[in-house]
Amino acid sequence: MVFAAKVSEVPLWEKKVVTVEGREILLVNAKGTIYACDNECPHQWAPMAGGLVKDGERISCPRHGYHFNLKTGACTEYPEYTLKIYPTKVEGEDILVELG
Ligand code: FES
Repeated sequence: MVFAAKVSEVPLWEKKVVTVEGREILLVNAKGTIYACDNECPHQWAPMAGGLVKDGERISCPRHGYHFNLKTGACTEYPEYTLKIYPTKVEGEDILVELG
């Protein structure tokens, strides 16, 4: 796993875009859990950083409003689209992501 950001940089219900090993990744603090996903929507590549987090586990794309599960990446409306999700771990003050 690789370092992505400090926990203090992603406060509760906030988001932060980071670049890790050349990939633009969106960190999301939803209900105190840190999720990491691609910052690019799989539908038409809108930046997910502008999305809204709902129910503590879904993020909606700012362009067409599709909803993606932050744990699985599954799209509620159109199963053919999947948002890339990266496993995360918090170690002390550090957020680590698994790029796979
Ligand atoms: S670009 Fe994200 S739902 Fe269309």
